Amino acid sequence: MIGLIVARSNNNVIGKGGEIPWRIKGEQKQFKELTTGNIVVMGRRSYEEIGHPLPSRTTIVVSRTKQFEGDGVQTAGSVREAIEMAGDRDVFIAGGYGLYKEAIPLVDIMYITEVDLTVENGDVFFPDFNEEDFEKTTGETLGEEIRYTRTIYRRKRGRDQQTGGNRIKALLFDLFETLITEWGHEKYTKRKMCADLGVDKEEFDVLWEEKEEERYLGEIDFEGSILYAGSKLGREISAETLAYVLNRRMSAKAACFEHIDPEVFRLLEELRSRGFRTAIVSNCSSEEVKVIRESELFRYFDEVVLSYEVHKKKPDRGIYEEAARRLGVDLADCIFVGDGGSNELQGAENAGMKAIQAKWYTNRLPQKRETIGAYPVAEEPLEVLKLIVPVAE
Ligand SMILES: NC(=O)c1ccc[n+]([C@@H]2O[C@H](COP(=O)([O-])OP(=O)(O)OC[C@H]3O[C@@H](n4cnc5c(N)ncnc54)[C@H](OP(=O)(O)O)[C@@H]3O)[C@@H](O)[C@H]2O)c1
Repeated sequence: MIGLIVARSNNNVIGKGGEIPWRIKGEQKQFKELTTGNIVVMGRRSYEEIGHPLPSRTTIVVSRTKQFEGDGVQTAGSVREAIEMAGDRDVFIAGGYGLYKEAIPLVDIMYITEVDLTVENGDVFFPDFNEEDFEKTTGETLGEEIRYTRTIYRRKRGRDQQTGGNRIKALLFDLFETLITEWGHEKYTKRKMCADLGVDKEEFDVLWEEKEEERYLGEIDFEGSILYAGSKLGREISAETLAYVLNRRMSAKAACFEHIDPEVFRLLEELRSRGFRTAIVSNCSSEEVKVIRESELFRYFDEVVLSYEVHKKKPDRGIYEEAARRLGVDLADCIFVGDGGSNELQGAENAGMKAIQAKWYTNRLPQKRETIGAYPVAEEPLEVLKLIVPVAE
C-alpha cells in the first residue's frame, strides 16, 4: 500500500520558510498512528528540518545530493526507488512538493488534512491533482483555535469507477466493543484477579503486559501467563487458585455475551438475509477463545478468525487476509467494522479494505472514543447498512 500524508491550508500551502506554517495541538496524532511501524518517505529538506529519523519507523530520505544511513534511516534517489526499497511493506509519502508530485500517480490513498487557514507568502504548495481519480471521504472537523478537517482520497480502480465502489461482498467485525462490550456489567478486573492471586497489582501488571503479545499470538495461554508472573514474583500459585481465577475470568467474559445490544443481532440477521458473508476478526487470548466459540453470537458468522488460533493479530495484514481467504472473497470486496482499538481500522485500510468506525458501545463509555481519521461512522449498529451498498451479481 502506498499512502500519502499531508496537511494543507485553504490556499494549498504546505510550507513557508522551511517550516510548516502552523502548530496545531493533536494534528500530528494521525501521522504518528498511520506511520508507526511502517516506512516514511520524505524529501531531504523535510528530513533536515526534523533532524533525525522518526522513532519506531524506517525513514527513507529522497535526495540526489546526500546520503543518510544509520539506525532507522536510508536514502533513495527517487520516490520510485524508495517504494522499491520498501518491498511489500506499507509506505507513506510525507512531502515536500517534489515527492508529492512524483508520488500522486502512484498512491493508493491520500490522507489530506484541510487546515482552515489562508497562509500568506507560502513558498511550498501541494501539487494539483485530478480529484476524479479518487473517491473522497470527508471526516470530522477538529481543533480549537485552528480548525482542521480530515479527508481521505482513495484511488478509484477499474470496476469501482463504473459501480461507484459498490461491490461489497463480506463484512469483517471486530469483537470487543463492537459486537460485545465489557462495560455496563460486572468485570473481573485485574485488581480482583491480583487479590485472588495474592500478588501486588503494580508488579503483576508489568509482567502481564510483558506477555500480552504472546498471549494474543497463541504463544502462551492465560494460565501460563499467570504462572509466569507468579514465578517472577516468587509466589507459588496452586492449581486450585489457578482454576478459580480462570473460572472467574471466563464467567466475566461470558457475561459480555449476555449484554449484547439487540440491534447487533438485527444487523447480523439483515446482513445474512441480504447475502453478505460475515466473519469475526478478534485479537484474543486462550480463555476468550472458548467463550467466543460457545456463545450465541458464534452461529451468526460464517467464519471466526481469532489471533490466538491463527498466530496473527490486528493491525497486521495477515489476519485480515486469513479472514478473506476463509470467506472466499478478495479483501477489496470486504468492509471492516470496528471500534478502532489496536489500530484495526488503519490496519484494515492498509490491507485494502474499507473501514467503518463502530461507535454504539464506545459512545456509552465514561471516556468516549473520538472519531478516528476520516472513516465513516456508525453511531448505531443498523447504520452500518446505510454505509454499505451491495452489488447485484
Ligand atoms: N504540511 C505538510 O504536510 C508538509 C509535509 C512535508 C513538508 N512540508 C513543508 O514543505 C517544505 C519542504 O518541502 P520542499 O518541497 O521544499 O522540500 P523536500 O521535498 O522536503 O526536500 C527537497 C529535496 O528533496 C529531494 N527531492 C525532492 N523531490 C525529489 C525527487 N522527485 N527525486 C529526487 N530527489 C528529490 C531533493 O534533495 P537534494 O537537493 O538533496 O537532491 C530536494 O532538494 C517545508 O517548509 C516543510 O515544512 C509540509
